[in-house]
Amino acid sequence: MNVRIAVIHYSATGVVHQLATSLAQGAANAGAEVRLRRVAELAPPEAIAANSRWQAHRDRENAPDGTPLATLDDLAWADGIALGSPTRFGGPAAQLKNFLDQTGSLWFKGLLAGKVVTAFTSASTAHGGLESTVLAMLNVAYHWGSIIMPLGYGPPVVSKSTGNPYGASWVSRKGSLPDDDALAAANAQGARLAEVAAALSAAQRTTS
Ligand SMILES: Cc1cc2nc3c(=O)[nH]c(=O)nc-3n(C[C@H](O)[C@H](O)[C@H](O)COP(=O)(O)O)c2cc1C
Repeated sequence: MNVRIAVIHYSATGVVHQLATSLAQGAANAGAEVRLRRVAELAPPEAIAANSRWQAHRDRENAPDGTPLATLDDLAWADGIALGSPTRFGGPAAQLKNFLDQTGSLWFKGLLAGKVVTAFTSASTAHGGLESTVLAMLNVAYHWGSIIMPLGYGPPVVSKSTGNPYGASWVSRKGSLPDDDALAAANAQGARLAEVAAALSAAQRTTS
């Protein structure tokens, strides 16, 4: 498979990072070349230090083997893009939005039009904004002119996990990490993204 997938995410305490890793693995298993990337942290050190799980995830990511930081080139390079963020008051985190708000030059040149884009998330409660966060991330992709790809109910594991067809998701309650079903749903979303992006880019090459 000749396809490139960028998995761009923000995660404060590591939940979305686990979904991102499984989604990236699903795309890689499907044969894609994958870049797993995190966006820059914007919160002040004292806010991070006040939450031990946030600080621990920061320390892991800032280690030499931590996830590389996303750049605009990762978006330009990719045929398919997965965006991930925890829910923040029903929408994406400012950290991810800050990165997306830097894509004006790519958008202006039409470089993001025609790419396949999908999204995934985590919230601490089942009705605290899983769907609205996925949909809000994808608003940006509508403006880019991208092809929006939902997770759907195709993979049976979607119904077994949160049953969220908008995108892989996890209800973290008091900080629990994604279970096997949620990770499998993210994995399936990555495989689907790779397959759809490969088919679309092959068709675009044929017609150009
Ligand atoms: C400022 C803030 C706002 C949040 N807003 C919501 C919310 O609206 N609904 C919800 O269910 N969880 C909310 N959460 C919880 C996170 O979305 C949840 O813990 C998520 O699993 C964290 O993912 P992460 O570990 O990748 O950062 C909020 C957390 C913070 C710090």
